[in-house]
Amino acid sequence: MTDQASKTAPAAKKLFIKTYGCQMNVYDSQRMAEAMSAEGYELTEDQAQADMVLLNTCHIREKAAEKLYSDLGRLKPFKAEKPDLKIGVAGCVAQAEGEEIIRRMPLVDLVVGPQTYHRLPEMLRGEAPKILTEFPEEDKFDHLPQRRATRRAPAAFLTVQEGCDKFCAFCVVPYTRGAEVSRPVDRILREARDLVERGVREITLLGQNVNGWHGAGEDGREWGFGRLIRALGEIEGLDRIRYTTSHPNDMADDLIAAHRDVPQLMPYLHLPVQSGSDRILKAMNRKHTATQYLHLIDRIREARPDIMLTSDFIVGFPGETDQDHADTLRLIEEVGFGTAFSFKYSPRPGTPAYERAEIDSAVADARLQELQALLSRQQKAAQESMIGRTLGVLFEKPGRIDGQMIGKSDYLHSVFVHAPDARAGDLVPVRIVESAPNSLRGELAA
Ligand code: SAH
Ligand code: SF4
Ligand code: F3S
Repeated sequence: MTDQASKTAPAAKKLFIKTYGCQMNVYDSQRMAEAMSAEGYELTEDQAQADMVLLNTCHIREKAAEKLYSDLGRLKPFKAEKPDLKIGVAGCVAQAEGEEIIRRMPLVDLVVGPQTYHRLPEMLRGEAPKILTEFPEEDKFDHLPQRRATRRAPAAFLTVQEGCDKFCAFCVVPYTRGAEVSRPVDRILREARDLVERGVREITLLGQNVNGWHGAGEDGREWGFGRLIRALGEIEGLDRIRYTTSHPNDMADDLIAAHRDVPQLMPYLHLPVQSGSDRILKAMNRKHTATQYLHLIDRIREARPDIMLTSDFIVGFPGETDQDHADTLRLIEEVGFGTAFSFKYSPRPGTPAYERAEIDSAVADARLQELQALLSRQQKAAQESMIGRTLGVLFEKPGRIDGQMIGKSDYLHSVFVHAPDARAGDLVPVRIVESAPNSLRGELAA
């Protein structure tokens, strides 16, 4: 903007966004901010300054969903003081609960689901209903403004696939995000090139079932996810590729081979297994056994021996016995994870498991503790195994200590490095010298 223009332009309105849940929501929040910037809204970090507050919500567990209502309660005095303040609810709770949100919390002005947020500006102008949660035929990405022509942080997310057709018995995602849809190859490659032009060096491809992505390729053939990664690997200046989250049943041969062949594909894979018990996996409708998962891990490690694996676990699923729990611990021992997320089962209305009898809550708590203790030991071991190794670190921002930079290693560990001449966006070799509880310390390799 020129000086002249800034003198005559009206003061921008301020938008505050709070994001809950998964990376896909983080990506959606960025896209909503872009859509709103075309309407004259700019982002603020300070909720008190906001003309509009947008809560981008998660419905995966009961606690996550309840968080929305406590946050809305906290907004009441702000709205009382500033009646023009607009309050919007987006994301998966918006999709699941729709008008119920406004009934419970009349201070909410609009409710928009994950597939309809391209219509946010219209809704705000009063040109569309104030509750929009249908799954439209059109692709929202076609209706969103181009990503803003500003320089970006060195690492970015790019959604390539949305929704889920797997219907695991515990999970709300197929209902909140709808059926599996893959974005077309040309849009993905265009967005990736565009990000790289703005200084992005690392892209994490996102999808609820990202490795189930498929589409018509540039050569007219049907591409799988491995082929898409190979195409991204040809983009000059894109130094790192990651993806999340994957389903074990969609780890196609070509994707495994891409881990061997594409040097930009980082040696890191998040592959949720949820349980190590075949009985529970069946009850969860995961459609694979523990042995099949272990066999898959062997094949992935054959292709990329230095890969670090991470996973998700649900503890206390209906019907889980001590033996089932022991089977899960054994699977964890066998694989050796770099880190993992573990959750106590939370019954979600509308899912097949919702009506099933829950196990004793104290038993589930104890199992969760035991499982997390094992996973933290593995995390510590994985971090300590990095000491002495030289890894690529992509610097993201300065640390608190003078001259210090913080970046991510190939394995996604946060690494603190004394590097007074470095800048965000530098990708440099770093020798790891120390492991702290949730980070590593390294020194610039000569
Ligand atoms: N698409 C991903 C998972 C997305 S949800 C996949 O299939 O792996 C992220 C994680 O939340 C899941 O892996 C699961 O571990 C957890 N989760 C989902 N529903 C849950 C529930 N009802 N209770 C507890 N944890 C749950
Ligand atoms: Fe949920 Fe299962 Fe789909 Fe993952 S694969 S999003 S856990 S239904
Ligand atoms: Fe939550 Fe929706 Fe993501 S339920 S985990 S925000 S897909």
